[in-house]
Amino acid sequence: MIAVSEPLINDQASKYVEECLRTSWISSEGRFIPEFEAKWAGYCGMNYGVAVSNGTTALQIALSCLGLELGDEVIMPTFTIISCAIAVMEAGAVPVLVDSDPRTWCMDVSQIESKITSRTRAIMPVHMYGHPVDMDPIRELASKHNLFIIEDAAEAHGAEYKGQKVGGIGDLSCFSFYANKIITTGEGGMVLAKSVEHAERLKSLRNLCFRADRRFYHTELGHNYRLTNIQAAIGLSQVERIEDHIAQKRWMGQAYTECLKDLPQIVLPVEESWAKNVYWMYGVVLTNDVAYAATEFARRLREKGVDTRPFFIGMHEQPVLLEKGMFTGEHYPVAERIARRGLYLPSGLTLSESQLEQVCDVVRSVLL
Ligand SMILES: Cc1ncc(COP(=O)(O)O)c(C=O)c1O
Repeated sequence: MIAVSEPLINDQASKYVEECLRTSWISSEGRFIPEFEAKWAGYCGMNYGVAVSNGTTALQIALSCLGLELGDEVIMPTFTIISCAIAVMEAGAVPVLVDSDPRTWCMDVSQIESKITSRTRAIMPVHMYGHPVDMDPIRELASKHNLFIIEDAAEAHGAEYKGQKVGGIGDLSCFSFYANKIITTGEGGMVLAKSVEHAERLKSLRNLCFRADRRFYHTELGHNYRLTNIQAAIGLSQVERIEDHIAQKRWMGQAYTECLKDLPQIVLPVEESWAKNVYWMYGVVLTNDVAYAATEFARRLREKGVDTRPFFIGMHEQPVLLEKGMFTGEHYPVAERIARRGLYLPSGLTLSESQLEQVCDVVRSVLL
């Protein structure tokens, strides 16, 4: 079976981790945490980094550091992971959805303005499968209506919008370093911030809102979302090699496109003229030429030794949210179609040329 994703761990990771073990700095204190935070913030062009336990907790403290009030609204894509909606709801706010762009599968930015109300406080673009969101219209709306921008760049480390790294554009940005991400810490995440006020607030929320003036005396509720020095040690070794990881992903994306572009049965990822796509995962969407859905396509590929993962299911189709009375009667046709007809092919950093060719041969044999 050709796996969907495997991480690429380098020798430096072992050296850094060994240092943690040898010096006993194994918890959430130690040199690798500030080094990893500074290096990642610098790479993305942001001022401050706050490392946390995963991408979901990154979103949670990012949303809660904005000081939203009950009933405030945050505009986000329906087509994303549920972590985004959870973070908005836990901050007391309401997720307001927009559909996906049929080309990039990112949020359709032309739908945002009609969703802005007097309660809107923030826009949350999610850079999807390695392709950036079209950020200029979001920046214009945010400055016109005085809204925060929180980027979710979990899936797009190193992707660029008009030459600027994603995660370096909004007021805050969130990353996951789960094992399938372009750089990984096993489990892990980070929030990047432009302002020192946000950075200080994020650090406090990550660590139980301890006060500097009196230990174990609390005036606010926080969380324990700390990353360990061992995880940050792996993270630092990964950032040091990110250009190799991105080169591998871009080679993979371009090679898949070259092999599969003549197949009318599938729509392939794009790279818009203003974008640098890092092809985190190589998604394909079945066209109407194919009678069955992505679940059946996945089953047929798996039978021939190719593992895949389905696309996200939109937030407006999640039973747990519908049961709360949210999104009643809402429909987002692009998200609904790609959720049913999309999946991603093996896209790991260790994928070899012969494995990629094998995947293409299997896709071809299943579709033809
Ligand atoms: C877009 C997006 N945001 C957030 C997350 C959550 O990250 P984590 O799994 O580290 O909690 C993911 C997870 O893969 C994701 O794809």
